[in-house]
Order: sequence, then C-alpha cells, then structure tokens
Amino acid sequence: MKFDTPATTNPIDQLKVVGKPTDRIDGPLKTTGMAPYAYEQHEAAPNAAYGYVVGATIAKGTIAALDLSKAESAPGVITIVTADTAGKLDKGNFNTAKLLGGPEIEHYHQAIALVVAETLEQARSAAGLIKVRYTKAKGAHDLEAIRTTATRHKDSKDSLVGDFAGAFSAAPVQLDVTYRTPDHAHAMMEPHASIASWEDDQLTLWTANQMIDWGRGDVAKTLGIPKDNVRLISPYIGGGFGGKLFVRADAILAALGSRQAKRPVKVALPRSFMFNNTPHRPATIQRIRIGASKDGKISAIGHENWSGDLAGGGPEDATQQTKFLYAGANRLITTRLAVLDLPEGNAMRAPGEAPGLMALEIAIDEMAEKLGLDPIKFRVINDTQVDPENPARPFSQRQLIKCLHTGADNFGWDKRGAPGKTRDGRWLTGMGVAAAFRNNLTMKSAARVKLDNKGVVTVETDMTDIGTGTYTIIAQTAAEMMGVGLDKVVVKLGDSSFPVSAGSGGQWGANSSTAGVYAACVKLREMIAKSQKFDPAKTTFADGKVTSGRKSIDLGKAAGASGMVAEDFIEFGDLGKTHQQSTFGAHFVEVGVNEVTAEIRIRRMLAVCAAGRILNPKSARSQVIGAMTMGAGAALMEDLVIDKRHGFFVNHDLAGYEVPVHADIPHQEVIFLDETDPMSSPMKAKGVGELGICGVGAAIANAVYNATAVRVRHYPITLDKLL
Ligand code: MOS
Repeated sequence: MKFDTPATTNPIDQLKVVGKPTDRIDGPLKTTGMAPYAYEQHEAAPNAAYGYVVGATIAKGTIAALDLSKAESAPGVITIVTADTAGKLDKGNFNTAKLLGGPEIEHYHQAIALVVAETLEQARSAAGLIKVRYTKAKGAHDLEAIRTTATRHKDSKDSLVGDFAGAFSAAPVQLDVTYRTPDHAHAMMEPHASIASWEDDQLTLWTANQMIDWGRGDVAKTLGIPKDNVRLISPYIGGGFGGKLFVRADAILAALGSRQAKRPVKVALPRSFMFNNTPHRPATIQRIRIGASKDGKISAIGHENWSGDLAGGGPEDATQQTKFLYAGANRLITTRLAVLDLPEGNAMRAPGEAPGLMALEIAIDEMAEKLGLDPIKFRVINDTQVDPENPARPFSQRQLIKCLHTGADNFGWDKRGAPGKTRDGRWLTGMGVAAAFRNNLTMKSAARVKLDNKGVVTVETDMTDIGTGTYTIIAQTAAEMMGVGLDKVVVKLGDSSFPVSAGSGGQWGANSSTAGVYAACVKLREMIAKSQKFDPAKTTFADGKVTSGRKSIDLGKAAGASGMVAEDFIEFGDLGKTHQQSTFGAHFVEVGVNEVTAEIRIRRMLAVCAAGRILNPKSARSQVIGAMTMGAGAALMEDLVIDKRHGFFVNHDLAGYEVPVHADIPHQEVIFLDETDPMSSPMKAKGVGELGICGVGAAIANAVYNATAVRVRHYPITLDKLL
C-alpha cells in the first residue's frame, strides 16, 4: 500500500484496542527472565563454543607483530580468529571502522582477535596470552584542538537564509554563546551479543539488533556472501538506544569463529569493552547567536556546530532542530566535521536533536532573560507554523505552544522566582523549561498476517522490540483491524525470514511498523470479505465475526480449514516532503541545589508531548519517562572522559560512566496532547521514544540557573561548575 494522500477515517479510528493503555504482552516473559536474549538461545544453538574478543590497545597505527602461540596451546582453545585467518573482509554499509582490525588499527579497542574455546573462562584466559606489538601513529583525540580543521560533510547542507550577519549586527538585543556537550555512551542493559551457527554456507545469527534487514545486508557484505545465505534472529532485545542499529564485532566475529571452529560460537562484548569498541554519541561544540528586537521577535538566528568522527564517519548534527523550531528571517545554520581518532561515533537516541536542544534551549532561556521576557512567552512569540526556510511548507501538526501552556498550568510555572532567589531550607530551588522537538521519520514496512480456523490472527514481521513495546502496539493494531481481542493475536518479530519492516530506529518504528501491519490487515479483510462474497466496502469486523448486512460468520469459519494469509507493506509517498512532519513537546523541571555543597537534586519533572495518535499510552509513557531519565543523565552525569594522549574513553564501565539510578529520579509526569496526524500514516501516529529526551538537558540546566543564577554551558552540569 502506498501512503501518499492524507489518511481518512479507517478501522483504527474505532479505538477499541488501539489508544488504550495496555500492558505489554511480552511483559510476563520479560519480567520473569523467560524472554531469551541473543546470548541465551541455548536450545537453538546447542554445543556452542565461547568466543572472547581481544581489542587493540592503541588508537591508531598498525600491528607490527601478533604472537598467538601461547594462546593457541592454552587449555580448551579451539581456534583463534584474526585478520590473517579471516580472509577478505569488507566493511558494512553502516560501519565506519572495520569490525575486525589488523594490521591497520583505526581506534582503541577495535577488535583484533577472537579466541574460541570450550568455556568462557578458557577463552578469556587464553586471550590474555596473546602478545601484540604495535607501531603507533599519531592521532587526533581532542575536538577542541582540531575544530578549525573541520569541513562540511558531503551530506550536510548549510542553511543560509537572508542576511544573517547584517541582521545580527543590527539587532538591538544580541546573544553570542558557545556550548559543549560531551561524548555519550548508549550503555544499554543487554550488551552486544551474538550466537553464530553455519549449516554448509548458510549462516544463522542470533544477535541483538534493532534493524534486522540492514544487519542482514551488512553481515553478508562484510563476509562477502549472498544476503540470502544469512538469517538474523532477534526476538527480544535488552535496549539499544541506537547502539544496536548496526551489526557490531560480536556478530561478525561469532560468524568467523563459528566458521573456523565448525560449530556454533557465542560472543558477548564485555561491558568494559563496549564503551570503546562500539559507537557512541559524539561530543559537540555549538556556537549560537540570536538577534532580536526589543519586543522579542527573532530577526537573526545562527547555529554553528562542530563534531568529530573517524575518517569516513558522519557528523553529530546538533543543528537539526534549529532549522525548524523558531521563526526568524535571517538564518545561518551549519555543521562541520573534523577527523578524530576516537572510537566510532554514531546515532544515539535522537541523534542531532538531543545534544542540539541541550544547547539551543539554554540559548533561548538566556535570550529571554536578556529581553526581560518569560521564556515561555519568548518561545510563543517566535513560533512558526511553517518551515522557516521554506514558508510554502506547513507543519502537518505543530502544537508546541499548547505543550508549553499545558505544561506551565500543570507544573505551577507561575510560582517560578527570579534567579537565585527561591529557597527551601538549605536548598536553592528553581524551575526550568525547554521545548522538545524531534522530526518524524517514516520507513517502508511490511508484514504478513495469518488467520487460522480458530480465529487466531498471527502477525509476522522482522520488526524488533528493543524494550519499547512493539509487540503490544502491533497486537493492538491487528486486533483493531480484525475485530478480535488481544487474546486472539499472536505477534512474531525479529526474524529475517519474516517480511522486512521499518525496524527500530529514529523513533519511526511505532508508526511505520504498525502501518505495515495495517496494510497487511486491509488485504486480509478484503480476502475474507471476498471469500464470503461480501462487498468489502460494507463488511465490518467486530467481536470475532465478519459481518455484511444481515450475514455474519465467525472469523475462524471464514478462514476455512487451511486458513488465510495476506502480506503487504506500507510505503510512504511525498507527504513528508510537502509537509514538515515533526513531534513537539515541552519539558518542565524543578531542581534543588544545596547552597553549601552545590549538590543538584531533581525534584520534579513533567513532559507534555504532541506526537500524533498515541497507540498505547502506557508504553508511550514508559518511553517518555525512560527518555526523561536519560536526559537527566545527559544533563548531570554522563561524560565519556577522553584520555587525550592515548585516544580512548577512560571511564569505560558503569562504575565510571554514571547514569541515573532511582535515587536520582523523582516524580515524573507525562501528558500527551490529544492529536492525530493524518499526514503521518493510516495510524495517524508518530513516535515518542526520542522526543522524550529532546530538551530535557536544557530544562534541567535552566532550572539549575533559575535556582543558583549560575549559567553552565558545558555539560554535564556537575557541582564543581557551580562553586
Ligand atoms: Mo535510534 S539513535 O535511531 O536507535
């Protein structure tokens, strides 16, 4: 089904199942530990040997000598994979560095060997016996130091509208500030892990992966085998945040290890290895200039962003939201990329907007203060209902102002005091607000729907559930379309033998994958109606029956003895081009800062989101509070600290890389505005998984400023920066 005209009324709009707060159908399996992750597929791949990855301990250079002799003769060792044994290896479309390095080393902890042994302990022990001699090369590890060498990436487009320089210098009120965000790690619960098994030239990989079809393609490309010879299975995943968008070393090394060992091999990346081996969100330096009239109308907005990545990598484009969020006739928005010899940078939850809003939304707060305006009022004055770069393009939906006002009313924004002037005993307290923005992306997505003679509907798609609730919203969609209860729906995900879905990324998964299921269900409904000689346009599906006029038949009966199967996909036309499709929100935060120690405690958080139809308010709320929590981490603690001499992240485990714990997170509330977006898909939905983190950091930073009158522009906001 091609989606190229705005959605009209359809069976989803009945909202009998869709739109209702619904427990996750995989919840009992997950909470009892019965949902097997990739590394736990013992029954699928019995007799698996264990692989242990060896990583490079230089950031750049070559391996001069690799001595495997001691390791090879260590107890239990079956085989060792290195670049020498692996044969010709390509690079995946989505990998910047090779997943198995050598002799050239591209980054610290790039994998250079896999030791395969009978037990994990034997593999790890033998790995310690490998001797490597390196020839080190000089690398660049400090973005600040090489910022001036940055250039425009081929896919980055400068946004130059009007006369920014002239308008800025003529503006009666000006702001010119620079912000910094550090490198961030995904640090998801389940580490990257895979089990590989070959049968002749057919490879099966149980692997933790968000994007099955991309992964399948990249495994095939890397190993130089046909895509058809690769099967990826990833039914349950313990978080990804973008870290599992692309296949990583665990998958490729498990495949190579299994080929050499001639038996299944399982590989998990140890936690302390993940931080330098797998991608991270790159640090940014962001200069923001805003010029406005005395009454607060922005005349000039400038956002220049710098980030770094390995040669061949891409930018962390923190300017994405600035192109759309506020009006202003004169604009200068650029992003520049420097070559940096640090581990590979790549997408992490709301790539671009997450760090971008951490800067832009402090700048808006600073500018509002200069203007003597309430920061909400300043945002409202500069709202735009059209793409500021291209006024002929309206937003499909844009309820930013309503998000701000709803939040202000619910949060008690009118009680906010002047900076540094409100206290509660020894605590200075303050409130902050920030806008949330994330673009709404859509992806082609296919599904197969089967109806059996008992009236059970089974959905199959290679879509993934990374902990987000995909199983449940897909079940809700099928139940609504086929007129059955959730107990009559079975959902099977995460297998490349199923139709290719949108996958889980860029918050496109919920809307796109359910729209694919919708398309398949439309087809199945037509098949059923035709089989009964009903007019499809006058046929309804409800309470497990298919009905036309006075004729009604149980779905199971209609399916016939052998059942029925329909397969279709949703493909998105030009509505995303004619209309700017984005999701909006507003974050409100109250903090307390200890007047003696400068300890920062978040006291309350509220998010108001406008993100199209909310398919399952319960799992959507969980997405948003999880994202708010991650935003709190980004604001106050997360910071991959670089050893600038040796080019690696020093705090490469969860002891040194701090993320929020329960004690850090207080009361959180989420409000969803009632919204449907007929431009987004037949589901009229969008995504919230990334919107939820966008703006949180700045709302916290602005609250800290309101509490203390100290402006911190360099994340994370740790107490030393307040003293
Ligand atoms: Mo997301 S960072 O596209 O998983």
